[in-house]
Amino acid sequence: MRLRLPHPPGSPPSRRWWITTLAINAGIVLVVFAAIQLIPARPGNPPVIREPVWDSPETRARTVQACYDCHSNETQWPWYSRIAPVSWLLAYDVVEGREDLNFSEWDRHAVSDIDPDEPFAPKTLVERIEDEIRSGRMPPDLYQLNHPAARLSDAEREALIAGLLRTVEQNQTTPDDTE
Ligand code: HEC
Repeated sequence: MRLRLPHPPGSPPSRRWWITTLAINAGIVLVVFAAIQLIPARPGNPPVIREPVWDSPETRARTVQACYDCHSNETQWPWYSRIAPVSWLLAYDVVEGREDLNFSEWDRHAVSDIDPDEPFAPKTLVERIEDEIRSGRMPPDLYQLNHPAARLSDAEREALIAGLLRTVEQNQTTPDDTE
């Protein structure tokens, strides 16, 4: 959107005309920026219900560093998470991330709804976690840019995968086990 004031035809716009036009446009940008701040976007941190029993304190520490901001109810919200439109993007990541995997609501993952023996069975949580980390999709690149602690060396990545796989396997039953 760009607002231009009319100016007499035939003559080039004056300096004053340019300054007024620029000021009006800057004003519009400011008002819109202020207005979008009123749209609330932080999902906040609901209470921690239950964590899995970790295979080791190191696995938990690495997971907290690399995954907890989007996959737990203990998100560390940075100062810019208060400023729209960035706040909307962060909120989206956290809501979607928690939906798929939430270490603070392990009750939801305690019983796997996937029978790996079924033909065409979708990937189990263990397989998805391994895939996501090894492929480099998790933690996301943009997040690593702002969170040096989430950058993993090859050795750390392998240790995190191994620790998470042990943890999930120990804390997940398949429906058959409970019959
Ligand atoms: C910046 C936020 C963020 C961080 C940090 C993060 N994730 Fe995610 N994760 C997401 C979002 C958003 C989704 C859902 C959308 C998607 O699949 O991209 C997701 C999805 C997933 C999924 C499900 C993928 C699928 O399609 O089955 C797994 C598994 C996962 N993340 C594991 C991890 C692990 C393990 C870590 C830490 C090493 C991690 N994530 C770090 C945001 C994040």
